[in-house]
Amino acid sequence: MSSVSLKTREAGTRYSIQLLNPTIGAEVSGVDLAQPLSAEERAELKALLLQYKVLFFRDQAITRDQQVAFALNFGELYAHPTGGVDTHRVVQPIAAENFKKYAVSESHWHTDTSWRIDPSFGAVLRAVHIPEVGGDTIWADGGAIYRGLPEDLKRRIDDLYVVHDYQDALTRSGVRYPLVSHPIVRTHPETGEDIFWVNFSLKPRIVDLDRAESDALLARLYAEVKRPEYHARFRWRPNSVAFWDNRAGLHYAVRDYGDFPRVMERVLIASDDIPHRVRA
Ligand code: SIN
Repeated sequence: MSSVSLKTREAGTRYSIQLLNPTIGAEVSGVDLAQPLSAEERAELKALLLQYKVLFFRDQAITRDQQVAFALNFGELYAHPTGGVDTHRVVQPIAAENFKKYAVSESHWHTDTSWRIDPSFGAVLRAVHIPEVGGDTIWADGGAIYRGLPEDLKRRIDDLYVVHDYQDALTRSGVRYPLVSHPIVRTHPETGEDIFWVNFSLKPRIVDLDRAESDALLARLYAEVKRPEYHARFRWRPNSVAFWDNRAGLHYAVRDYGDFPRVMERVLIASDDIPHRVRA
């Protein structure tokens, strides 16, 4: 794991944090996810989440029930239509057999449930089995990506919408849901930050552009998403947990672990926000 600062006590919180990048990714110590949070602890973690977009916790030997209880501090849970583990409908297994089942052939930079009108607020991901090598996850700061674009490119995408097409997987799961598009740049409902927010795993297509123009523009934007300067890359260890704000950027699970098993369990936190762009 790369880190850019020494462990520091974050002003205004009881927690110590270690940054992975100045704007995204903070490893938080001083919290026991197995215990209920007080209102103050919840508020401090929420503030850290809004500031750093993804929080990491080490050495948290928590059960599924405790993972669910932690996620419930931040909102109602969302049960993904592709199903949950046998004991908990809201705990979604993430492992190689599920990629095959849902015909997910490769990793892409993506956001969670962006095919919904109201995509999830965030997620809590727990390492269940870590491969012997590889298997990191990378988060990209959607605000930094947008701010870093040349002005003419910002103006070009400012009023464009992109389609998030999950129809094949939904049909396989017996779910009917309308095809949804969202603004390419969404205003974060709590921080007010403009966020570049495209899901490159859901056949993105820009509304009102012809296919060639859309593909060319998305390829140009994808090059920005891949810039390491915008990333926080997390090296998983047993009992690691990540908690991210799905509205603040994109993430990518690195498939560099060959046949070594990698098993994660994810809980999605629902959102009531209809994403939009706020223009001054
Ligand atoms: C996800 O894409 O939500 C899970 C990321 C991972 O498996 O590391």
